[in-house]
Amino acid sequence: MVTWIEAKRDGGRLSDAAIREFVGRVVTDDPARRLEDGPVAALLMAILFRGLDDGERRCLTLAMRDSGEVLRFGRDAGRPVVDKHSTGGVGDKVSLPLAPLLASLGFRVPMVSGRGLGITGGTLDKLESIPGFTTRLERARLEAQVEELGVAMAGQTERMVPADRRLYALRDVTGTVPSMDLIVASILSKKLAEGLEALVLDVKFGGGAFMRERAAAEELARRLVGLAKDCGVRTRALITDMDTPLGRSAGNWLEVKESVACLSGGGPADVRALVVECAAQLLVETGQVADEEAGRARAGEELESGRPLERWNRLLMAQGADMARTASMLCADALAPCVGEVRAGRGGWVRSCAARVVGEVVRDLGGGRLTPGAGVDPWVGVDRMAKPGEKVAAGDVVCRVHGRDRGAVEAAMARMEGAFEVGDEPPPPRPDGSTEAR
Ligand code: URA
Repeated sequence: MVTWIEAKRDGGRLSDAAIREFVGRVVTDDPARRLEDGPVAALLMAILFRGLDDGERRCLTLAMRDSGEVLRFGRDAGRPVVDKHSTGGVGDKVSLPLAPLLASLGFRVPMVSGRGLGITGGTLDKLESIPGFTTRLERARLEAQVEELGVAMAGQTERMVPADRRLYALRDVTGTVPSMDLIVASILSKKLAEGLEALVLDVKFGGGAFMRERAAAEELARRLVGLAKDCGVRTRALITDMDTPLGRSAGNWLEVKESVACLSGGGPADVRALVVECAAQLLVETGQVADEEAGRARAGEELESGRPLERWNRLLMAQGADMARTASMLCADALAPCVGEVRAGRGGWVRSCAARVVGEVVRDLGGGRLTPGAGVDPWVGVDRMAKPGEKVAAGDVVCRVHGRDRGAVEAAMARMEGAFEVGDEPPPPRPDGSTEAR
């Protein structure tokens, strides 16, 4: 181990055999072979400073993928196995309507997702606000459900990509999370373990995203796409704006509600557009339509048809949801004990709504977590958010805050007032949803 650390420290290259042995010894239960935290962390730090070349990155990613169970699906050229990954943001519920839409379009979708951390929401937390819905599916059940229903939405099992679990936990406490090479290997090892044929990535930039600058998001997208393709998965990336929250709601159950609205042919235009765009990219990448325009048309028509909503309901039933309770919860105006309205202090155009502030407010209301493993409150959050470009009159509601008690709601309302900028001019149009990394 010390030879590998010294080699990387001095700018050398790790052989494929060394990388595979390293990963094997990160996850082994054999006490004689298992590496201690110290040397593993030292190698991670050397990688952060010296980087990995294309071959090393590929080898590390594949070794991490193979450190545990890899999903396998039968060959079926007419039903490609696909998924989407987002680098995360505020109000980003795209996976919820997208997964049943993709299944309805004929794809097989083994969507293995994560939990939220900090201001970033997580698909699992959102799904778990649905009464009875289980995100714990064993491999055989997940594979069978994907073959039969076309879609399963679950958390990573203990046996999937154990190397990432240990390496990520060590990166978290050693300041080595920002290594682009380790980020790319971490994200892709988990996606590759789903046995995918094609993948669409949504790499976000802006105040509410992991990458603040567009250039950094583009670089991450390029690296993710390059490596995924190198590993045999057809991949495209969207680079999207996360200065403003996606949709009008942020908070676990509130986002489920907005997702169901999208599947019912309504919901905010930006959510719908991104859902359709992700599906269109996969339709093009798997050769089912000639170009993106045709992909958008096909995905849009499918979303309108009501079939994805029906698939969503079948997904909920397959994973144990209490359908009667879910239906009555969807009709309720609010489920949190206390709701407050934030009103515009002046009339004008909404120029911006700061995604970072909204994310922090939702987190502090209890909807997010500061440390991995902490619980989240499913009902709290923010909804009915005004969008940039909309005109408001003084006193109009620009959002509602859902909280556990009056004190929490009033504190959050004061912060949300500062999240909106209202001015005399409409905001300049922002470029969005480009498809630059292929
Ligand atoms: N998301 C991941 O899954 N891994 C990283 O390293 C960073 C973001």
